[in-house]
Amino acid sequence: MCAFHIIDMGAMQILDSRGRPTLSVTLTLAGGATGWAGVPSGASIGTKEAVELRDGDLSRYGGAGVTRAAATITGSIFHRLKGRPWHSLADVDQALIELDGTPAKARLGGNAVVGVSMATARAVAAAHGQQLWEYLTPSSVRPRLPVPHFNLVSGGVLASNRLDFQEFMIAPIGAPSMAEAVRAGAEIYAALRHNLAAAGQPTGQGDEGGIAPDLVEPHEVLTAIVTAISDAGYVPARDQVAIALDPAASHFRRDDGAYQVAGERLSSLELIELYARLAAEYPIWSIEDGLGEDDIDGWRHLTDRLGERLQLVGDDVFVTNPAVIEQGIARQLGNAALIKVNQVGTVTETLQAMELCRKHGYAQMVSHRSGETVDDFIAELVVASGCGQVKCGAPARGERVIKYNRLLHIASQRPDLAYGLAGR
Ligand code: PGA
Ligand code: ZN
Repeated sequence: MCAFHIIDMGAMQILDSRGRPTLSVTLTLAGGATGWAGVPSGASIGTKEAVELRDGDLSRYGGAGVTRAAATITGSIFHRLKGRPWHSLADVDQALIELDGTPAKARLGGNAVVGVSMATARAVAAAHGQQLWEYLTPSSVRPRLPVPHFNLVSGGVLASNRLDFQEFMIAPIGAPSMAEAVRAGAEIYAALRHNLAAAGQPTGQGDEGGIAPDLVEPHEVLTAIVTAISDAGYVPARDQVAIALDPAASHFRRDDGAYQVAGERLSSLELIELYARLAAEYPIWSIEDGLGEDDIDGWRHLTDRLGERLQLVGDDVFVTNPAVIEQGIARQLGNAALIKVNQVGTVTETLQAMELCRKHGYAQMVSHRSGETVDDFIAELVVASGCGQVKCGAPARGERVIKYNRLLHIASQRPDLAYGLAGR
């Protein structure tokens, strides 16, 4: 297929996993291929992310409606995309970027743009007779089944408990296959829930399906997780079942620039030493957003102090934006980037961000958002990128497990694909 024509587009308001409005986008090509996308939505967001267009009508959904964004898709976006040949997804994405014309996609709305970009990718893959992950794989990349990073315990802005750190994850790095990794995640999650219930702890869930116990100290959670790993019959170790943290530190940074953890005020350097102690005591292999997105000096200290021993992932500080990541790489901040398609707003820019990371030896972890739909786009993207790491929340709840289940499907269809971290 050398060129494609977009002949129809639809957009409607649906609910995301938090019960807030989001977009469902459909797109049809001449010849009949179709693509769908469900647009994810973050709560713990970086300031430089693509902007979501919300209606602001407080009498409906508290102002969070997306009917204007839906109308933009079927109106000005469809008007721009219909009636002409397109030669690649990159060309469509470039047209969307130009039509928007703002740095953060504030005019059309990042939510509208990303939905159209994702649906286009799906439709074009279908027109090629390819699976989405096959279509998205760059010619220089070997596709790979990723280590899933399961959210076991939630805190921060994604849960209503008192934990300051946002995500405590386990990563079955040493699992022999995708299927065994998923099994480990589910069995350890069940063991943790059982242990917490036996200890009289609440076992309700945060937005990403992680359990939200009434614990305050990070080490209490880490001890509970290590115990659950052992109780489920696995080995808590950096090369077996490892632990990954996303403290999301921007969200417990105080106005005076310090951090507030478990009731204590910590300077950047003190927080870095806390991470060093936790990483010495527990099998932590990766820390995301260990410091706030504006704490650039702190990020440099963190990278100097722990960058040799730990993966240090930038989420709020990089926002999947190639220009921002490039600056971060030049300043030697961290050694990995979190990858969220809706943070930057198009699939093409997301692929560019990942290519930039590969070029500079930065690892990548593909990520869901805390507000999700049953769209499994990121399962396809992570396999295509070959980066070997993904986080889609707990091994529970439909909008989370649909991604893990898609990875199981790809693994069963393609036993030739390697499982695990890239470069191992
Ligand atoms: P978000 O949270 O989707 O609310 O941004 C996830 C994260 O911080 O990684
Ligand atoms: Zn994060």
